[in-house]
Amino acid sequence: MALDTALSPINNKAIRRLIAANLLVFVLVLLTFCAGVYFFSAAKLHGDLKQRLAMFNGSLIASIDPDEIEPDIFESTRTGQTALPLERMKLEWYSKDGKILKEKGSLPAKIPFSAIASYQQQDDPPALALTTPGIVRGQLMGFMRTFESYAEADRELARLQTGLAVGVVIAFAVSALGILWLTQLSLKPLDEAFLKLKRFTDHASHELRTPLTAIQTNIDFVLKRSEGIEPTYREKLVTVQNTAKQMTVLTNELLLLARADRKESPAAMTPVNIGQLSEEVFETVRPLAGQKSIELALEQKKSPVVKGNREELRSILNNILQNAIEYTPTKGKVVVTIDEHEGNALVEVSDTGIGIAADDIDKIFDRFWRADRARTARAGGAGLGLSIAKTFAEQHQGDIAVKSMLDEGSIFTVRIPCGKN
Ligand SMILES: Nc1ncnc2c1ncn2[C@@H]1O[C@H](COP(=O)(O)OP(=O)(O)OP(=O)(O)O)[C@@H](O)[C@H]1O
Ligand SMILES: [Mg+2]
Repeated sequence: MALDTALSPINNKAIRRLIAANLLVFVLVLLTFCAGVYFFSAAKLHGDLKQRLAMFNGSLIASIDPDEIEPDIFESTRTGQTALPLERMKLEWYSKDGKILKEKGSLPAKIPFSAIASYQQQDDPPALALTTPGIVRGQLMGFMRTFESYAEADRELARLQTGLAVGVVIAFAVSALGILWLTQLSLKPLDEAFLKLKRFTDHASHELRTPLTAIQTNIDFVLKRSEGIEPTYREKLVTVQNTAKQMTVLTNELLLLARADRKESPAAMTPVNIGQLSEEVFETVRPLAGQKSIELALEQKKSPVVKGNREELRSILNNILQNAIEYTPTKGKVVVTIDEHEGNALVEVSDTGIGIAADDIDKIFDRFWRADRARTARAGGAGLGLSIAKTFAEQHQGDIAVKSMLDEGSIFTVRIPCGKN
């Protein structure tokens, strides 16, 4: 059964963990049930054996005729219609002073006799014995001791064990399929709801672009002719212009993510020279680095070509390179290295910036997550750049690795398989 939940926020790993937890609980319930059945059955068989021995002794003693000088104790070894199973029994008749007078049955009796009415356990061969005083018409005639082997009870328990083991395996298989089916069924509405939410984000961000462009164009128009405007009003207009720009970036990023998640129209794949693309991105961020006097360097060890979507690959490199510059204080250094290793294009972007705390490394790819230090370093980021980069890298069967030390800097390495070009 395929777990197709690509759209839902619950990834396959989480679903597998959920199914495994369900199965574990089910197996525990099943094993507890089996243990209960087994111990109850064992106790019942033991109780039955005790009852049977008491009944045998009672009926054997009742068959004694006290008027006979030497009563033939084991003349009839029958209880009602059924003969006693003498092959797994031993019947012993003792005198009042504990001397054995008569015995019958093929089970070896190895434990010493004791003239006390009680049950005794024999270990080898395993058997249970019961001694009963033979009192007839109020007179003690002797002692009856009867053994019965545990072999039959053990055989029954072994049969029960096999039955339970087969039952557990079948129940496990059926429940595994059932749990898989139920998980799929319960995730379906979630998947649908998530898809609707994506569509909504897509439409909303698309629709927001037109009014935002209108705001920007109008403010640009006013600011270009701002000679007569009071400086405070002008300042406010510049703030509105910047906020409108920020909102445009944000809506564009949301639109990009919503479309990437839906994977409805696979982007066109063409051979892309990663070295060349890095150079282009490098040039676009140069002014930003210039403003902060950050030294920029590009080293091309190799010139790998991958099969992919040029715009998505550009977005990955752009986001990472922009972060490197934005989160590096003035006069820092950012180095981009292009390499190829084992069929993968590698782009390493290292900076001497503020770094990322070890506890935060896992969060930086989460949507809208920003470290407090990053907010101080740069106001206005949405916290979406890296999640977009990660989504695109994964769509190219690649990934992004991060190494970072607080206050020392970070190294982001993008890996994209070259594939067959
Ligand atoms: N090179 C870096 N050095 C230090 N921190 C970084 C670096 N790159 C990313 N981060 C941390 O990861 C967070 C998420 O980065 P991301 O690019 O997703 O969002 P952002 O840069 O805050 O906003 P935007 O959506 O505008 O890119 C940043 O806010 C920052 O805390
Ligand atoms: Mg960013």
